[in-house]
Amino acid sequence: MIQFDAVHKRFPNGTTAVHDLTLRMPEGGVTVLVGSSGCGKTTTLRMINRMVEPTSGTIRVGGKDVTRQDAAELRRSIGYVIQQAGLFPHRTVLDNIATVPLLLGHGRRRARAKAAELLETVGLTAEAGKRYPHQLSGGQQQRVGVARALAADPPVLLMDEPFGAVDPVVRTQLQDELLRLQKELSKTIVFVTHDVDEAVRLGDQIAIFRTGGHLVQCASPAELLARPADDFVADFLGAERGLKLLSLKTLAGVPQGPAPEGEAWTLVLDAADKPLHWASKDGAEIPVRPLKDGDSLLAALDESIASPTGLVARVDAAGRLTGVTSRDDIHRHAGQAHSEARVAA
Ligand SMILES: Nc1ncnc2c1ncn2[C@@H]1O[C@H](COP(=O)(O)OP(=O)(O)OP(=O)(O)O)[C@@H](O)[C@H]1O
Ligand SMILES: [Mg+2]
Repeated sequence: MIQFDAVHKRFPNGTTAVHDLTLRMPEGGVTVLVGSSGCGKTTTLRMINRMVEPTSGTIRVGGKDVTRQDAAELRRSIGYVIQQAGLFPHRTVLDNIATVPLLLGHGRRRARAKAAELLETVGLTAEAGKRYPHQLSGGQQQRVGVARALAADPPVLLMDEPFGAVDPVVRTQLQDELLRLQKELSKTIVFVTHDVDEAVRLGDQIAIFRTGGHLVQCASPAELLARPADDFVADFLGAERGLKLLSLKTLAGVPQGPAPEGEAWTLVLDAADKPLHWASKDGAEIPVRPLKDGDSLLAALDESIASPTGLVARVDAAGRLTGVTSRDDIHRHAGQAHSEARVAA
């Protein structure tokens, strides 16, 4: 757990970067810091590993006041990932990842073996390990950055807009990878981003800052979307708050019934019961995108709009039809998602 108590940071030039911050970042969870440029996110992050010292207040990591710990040692126990990955240009990818294990006194061989393992963990090939950073794409470099931050197996990971410089498709892939890794590793992660969708996807809690280093609200994504504390937060979250809330809820638990037969549209299945398309009586075909229980209500709503019947085809893990769900059922459940978030808040 990381605990900020009445933390204030004023730079020598008079700029207040962080104003009286009290915030708890739970162990094994992802806390996302968002807010407009210059609102103190990076400063907050860098006070955790003492790259910046607070003017007043205390910061504890795992119950220990960071100022009572050796700064170099503290930094080695905390992984740090930044936007441009910050790799050493003249070292191979493998040696970049092995840097911290070497610093920690692991032998060269063990450090490299660990690095090779991490390369695979973040989805890169052994061949990529032999290259130099400039020979990789931006997305691959970010993966190396993550691998390097994980190399010392630190309990805490600080990530400052790590996926800010890659295109949206790669960005989504990197987010998926991080979510998968986090399921296995349960690190305490502090993640800075400008992107509300990224915050909603990755965060167990989201802390929203306003210029001058003021924390405005810290809550779970669902709570924040359902009950923004003020107009600033509501504006920041954007116009599609309701839809974003739906992206958090899954289809599991939404009722399903048998597919229609002998009506205007029929759902055509293959021999293994996998949906192929919708077919009309006069021979028209409309594509179907079957959804699984883990898919979001937002995806379901989207599919129900594309579907000629307003029905969504539901399938099991093997892709076999289990039933169909109507747009009304999705709407009813969507309304429930909203009131559940209110109760939780
Ligand atoms: N070393 C410094 N000396 C003086 N002022 C600084 C220093 N570092 C940051 N600041 C100021 O402190 C404020 C907060 O900066 P910080 O980098 O924490 O913002 P941020 O939220 O990370 O912004 P961005 O989204 O643009 O990365 C800004 O006004 C910035 O100009
Ligand atoms: Mg910053």
